[in-house]
Amino acid sequence: MKTQKTHSISKSILLLILISFTSGIFAQSMETKTSILNGQDFTDIKGTVITAHGGGFLKVGDYYYWLGENRKNGVFVSCYRSKDLMNWEFRADLLTRESNPTLDRANIERPKVIYNEKTKKYIMWMHYEYGRDYSYARAAVAFSDNIEKPFTFLKSFRPFENMSRDCTLYKDEDGTAYFLSAARENYDMMLYRLTDDYLDAKEQIATLWPGGHREAPAMVKRGDYYFLMTSGCTGWTPNQGKYAYAKSILGPWSDLKDIGNSTTYDSQSTFILPIKGNKKINYLYVGDRWDGKKYSNSTYIFLPLTFENDSTMELKWVDKISPNVQTGMID
Ligand code: GAL
Repeated sequence: MKTQKTHSISKSILLLILISFTSGIFAQSMETKTSILNGQDFTDIKGTVITAHGGGFLKVGDYYYWLGENRKNGVFVSCYRSKDLMNWEFRADLLTRESNPTLDRANIERPKVIYNEKTKKYIMWMHYEYGRDYSYARAAVAFSDNIEKPFTFLKSFRPFENMSRDCTLYKDEDGTAYFLSAARENYDMMLYRLTDDYLDAKEQIATLWPGGHREAPAMVKRGDYYFLMTSGCTGWTPNQGKYAYAKSILGPWSDLKDIGNSTTYDSQSTFILPIKGNKKINYLYVGDRWDGKKYSNSTYIFLPLTFENDSTMELKWVDKISPNVQTGMID
């Protein structure tokens, strides 16, 4: 009798400990974030680590969408959304191994998405490889009616027969869209104009810094100037980021100028996100901190870009940031 009682008391104690422990974890993970801690594991509102590397961002209504690489369980591209850029909610896997037969052994990197007003479709461009090495060097295109719903994989190809590795998309104010990608074994950064439906490359416009060996492109326009940030080519190992500016996307582009420190604060560029508030437009640099040995240990950094004059872009280190999407200010 005594042992039975002791048994049930200790059982209740155990249950209590378990409840308080799990509710503690729950409460912690559900806490609303008020800042982004750079270089630390970045979790979504359920407390799960965000997997959206080499990613792109797109504002739809009140939401910022973040789409990026996911390399788990046959998923290629995952999608998150947030109203404040700090509290992210996982929404869907947009592209998986099952999306298309040609993705069975694929490796997808650096997905970016823009919206086509004419066709009312979200268009994704990305770097496509087949198998383990990087010899396919192709671009690929997918589309969807809904940014939160699976994309239809259209094709992988080499634009104008050029190799195509690290890449990005840029949609200009007049609706013209461009694709930039590293060609000729990463020696040249190519600039292509897209067709009106954004599903193909219409014209090869320029070879930026021929032989310059640049990758990880990220483009933004501020005032009268286009800025293009890139990294050098050292695989997963970070190197000195550089940027250039131009008054026309067609060029002439300035020389490449250093930005950040010699390792771009241990990161590689993936996107420049404008935060258009009612007081100011500020610009966030989003970089990946790769762990080449264990990809899933890779993290992110979000740093404010500052501009001393119209054509000078700077990137300084801060441990954490609190963007205010209403005002556009970044604290
Ligand atoms: C980086 C590139 C990444 C990935 C990696 C593989 O330079 O930016 O997207 O391809 O190389 O080594």
